[in-house]
Amino acid sequence: MSKINHLDNRLKLAGKRVLLRVDFNVPLNNGSITEDSRIKKVLPTIKFLIDSKAKIIIISHMGRPKGKTISNLTLKPIAKKLSDLLGQKVFFLNEVIGTKVIEQSKNITNGDVLLLENLRFYKEEESNSKNFAKELSKIGDIYVNEAFSCSHRAHASVSEITNYISSFAGHQLVAEIETIKMLTNSPKKPVSCIIGGSKISTKIGVLTNLIKKMDNIVIVGAMANNFIKYNRYNIGKSVYEKNTENLIKNIINQSKMYSCNFLIPSDVVVSKKYDTKGQLKNLDKIEDTDIILDIGNKTVETISQIIDNSKTVLWNGPAGYFEIDQFAEGSNKIAKKIIQNTKNKSLISIAGGGDTVAAINKFDCYEGFTYVSTAGGAFLELLEGKILPGIKALEKNE
Ligand code: 3PG
Repeated sequence: MSKINHLDNRLKLAGKRVLLRVDFNVPLNNGSITEDSRIKKVLPTIKFLIDSKAKIIIISHMGRPKGKTISNLTLKPIAKKLSDLLGQKVFFLNEVIGTKVIEQSKNITNGDVLLLENLRFYKEEESNSKNFAKELSKIGDIYVNEAFSCSHRAHASVSEITNYISSFAGHQLVAEIETIKMLTNSPKKPVSCIIGGSKISTKIGVLTNLIKKMDNIVIVGAMANNFIKYNRYNIGKSVYEKNTENLIKNIINQSKMYSCNFLIPSDVVVSKKYDTKGQLKNLDKIEDTDIILDIGNKTVETISQIIDNSKTVLWNGPAGYFEIDQFAEGSNKIAKKIIQNTKNKSLISIAGGGDTVAAINKFDCYEGFTYVSTAGGAFLELLEGKILPGIKALEKNE
C-alpha cells in the first residue's frame, strides 16, 4: 500500500471537486433498497469530505445493464436513501458525462453531494474506454476510489480514469486491502477460515491460496455437498457441482502437504422440501429424496471449538439456506460464536461476501465483527492473491 496515495487530512479539499467512485450496486426490489450495507459503509468517507468542504460528486454502477439505459437500474432511489442517511439533500443528475454534468459539478456549494446516473448505462464504462475515462475525469479535480468491491474490474471509472486525474485510495478501500493482507500475510495464529457458498469452482483459487496459510479450513454450505458426495455418502437431491472430483482431490492433497486441518460437516439438517421443517441426520442416513439445507449440531460444535482455538477467523459463505429461518441455525450459531469471541477473547474476525453480509445482518451481528467486507468477487480475488486492476491503477498514479 505504500505506493498508493491515500485520502487524508493533509489534502486541501475545501472547494475541490472530489469525484468519488463508490459501489452502490445494492439489491433493489421495486425501487426499494433491500440491503444497504454498501451505502452505510462509505458514509464516513462522504462525511469526511463534507466536513472538509469539498464538492462531492459520486459515481457508481448498478447491476449489469450492458450499456443500455434500464429504468429499474437507475441510481435515483439511492440519492433519496443517501440523503436520508446523511441528513442533507443529495442532488441527482440522470447523466454521467458532458457539459451539463461538468457545470453542475462546479456549481454545487462546498459540502454538497451530487450523485450521477448508473455508469454502466454507457458501454464505454465496461470497455475501459480512454475517451469515457477522460470525460469522467473532467467532473473532478481529484478522484477517490472507495469502491473496493468493484476494483477487480478493469473498467473506465476504476482503472483507466487514474491516467487523467490525481487519484487516491479511499479510507474503506485502504482498510479492506490492509485487512486482507494481514489475514494472508501476518495473521495472529492459529488462523482458521470457514468457507461456504454453492460452487467449488468459484472458490478453488481462494482455497488453494488459503490452504498454504491457514491452520484450519472448514467447508460448509452447498459447497460441502460435493465433499460429502466425494466421501461416498448419498446426498439425495442436494445441490452439487458436477465434475469436481479432481478439484476436491487436489484440495485434500494440498491440505495434507501444508498441514492444514481440513474439515467438512459430519452431520446435516435435511428436508424433502424447502418449506418444511428440517431433520437432523448423520451423513450415512441421508435418503434419496433428502435435500441438505444446513449443518447439524455436531458440526456446529466442532466449528465452535475451532473458533475457540483460533486467534483469527475468516468467514465467507453461509452454512445453509439461511434465508429460510429453519435452515439458518448453523449460520446463526457460527456468527454468534464469532462475535462472542471477538468481544471476550480478542479474536480478530473477518467476514466477507454478499450472502455472508446478508446473513450476519439478519442475525444482527454486523457490528460484532472486527471487519466486514461488503465485496464479493473482489474480496475473493484478493484472497486468491490476485492483483486487482483498480488497485494497480492507483499504484501507478504515485
Ligand atoms: C459486486 O457486486 O461484486 C460489484 O458491484 C461488481 O459487480 P459486477 O460483478 O457486476 O462487476
